[in-house]
Amino acid sequence: MKLKIAVLPGDGIGPEVTKQSVKVLKAIAERFDHEFEFEEAIVGAVAIDCTGEPLPSATLELCRDSDAVLFGAIGHPKYDNDPSAKVRPEQGLLKLRKELGLYANIRPVRAYENLLEHSPLRPERISGADMVIYRELTGGIYFGEKSTSEDGKTASDLCTYSTFEIERLAHLAFKAAQKRRKKLTLIDKANVLETSRLWRKTVTKLAKDYPDVSLDFLFIDNAAMQMVLNPKQFDVILTENMFGDIISDEASVIGGSIGLLASASVGLENALFEPIHGSFPQATGKGIANPIASILSAALLLDHFNLTREAGVIRKAVEESIKLNVCTQDLNKNNHYSTEKVGDFLEGRISESEHHHIN
Ligand code: IPM
Ligand code: MN
Repeated sequence: MKLKIAVLPGDGIGPEVTKQSVKVLKAIAERFDHEFEFEEAIVGAVAIDCTGEPLPSATLELCRDSDAVLFGAIGHPKYDNDPSAKVRPEQGLLKLRKELGLYANIRPVRAYENLLEHSPLRPERISGADMVIYRELTGGIYFGEKSTSEDGKTASDLCTYSTFEIERLAHLAFKAAQKRRKKLTLIDKANVLETSRLWRKTVTKLAKDYPDVSLDFLFIDNAAMQMVLNPKQFDVILTENMFGDIISDEASVIGGSIGLLASASVGLENALFEPIHGSFPQATGKGIANPIASILSAALLLDHFNLTREAGVIRKAVEESIKLNVCTQDLNKNNHYSTEKVGDFLEGRISESEHHHIN
């Protein structure tokens, strides 16, 4: 298969981890005889420094013209404590999601048996946890009208949803549930919010098309508690933009490190793959960042193009690296490997298995 992949390394540890996933994708292309073409562009704080804009038009154009986008991370501490900053790195990512119409954000979360001790949660509570979060990504309070009054004393962010926005994501979540344990949980705040009541009504109606999937509902506050009390109850989670942002960071502790979590953001024409972790400025350039989240995002990219066998080879190599403790310091305190070394190990496993398999 021929694929043109736009690579947006971004800020902080973004470039270091993305370099590893590109390496892994090249090894896959080599082994399975695919033609992957990579082209880099700037986004985030580096793009602001170069052009004044977090998403330069050349970057957006490249993404539109590509089959997929491999995204690193964005953010820089110089913007975090400056509420009056007009231009922020995050705007680059938000604009990219909106412009490319990436309405579905898919975030798989699972516990790895070898890493149970790394989670702050009790091993017996998380062992076997395996879920996928379907987060709405181009609507809700993130993209509603924003305003601050003239005197600067009042501000507002509007949260709006239409049945169209809810339905298109819900269909994907129901279909995912059909392929898994057939359970869908809608997370909302329907006891308070009008938009949440619309979500419930719309999703309940749609459930009739998926009689094999059992649908239940949780309020976001209770869901946040359930996530640490009994995460095994979750199979597919469906939720709006802001609740999905929050619950997915919370869920990430189940895996033992946020450095393991990958995500896919898909729309009708484009798709973007990124680790859920941020730019981790304190770690930049030290070679300690975990590249697995970015590498598993590359596996999601392959899944998206139905290259399931290829994606499986990456996941198997990742599992091996975890079993053999070939891990960065977030997962291996005593004898850790660098970002680059973890990438090298995985590349080696992928190329090596070439000699053992007949394709
Ligand atoms: C995420 C991030 C983004 C979000 C930020 C960087 C805008 O936290 O992808 O979860 O809030 O969506
Ligand atoms: Mn987030």
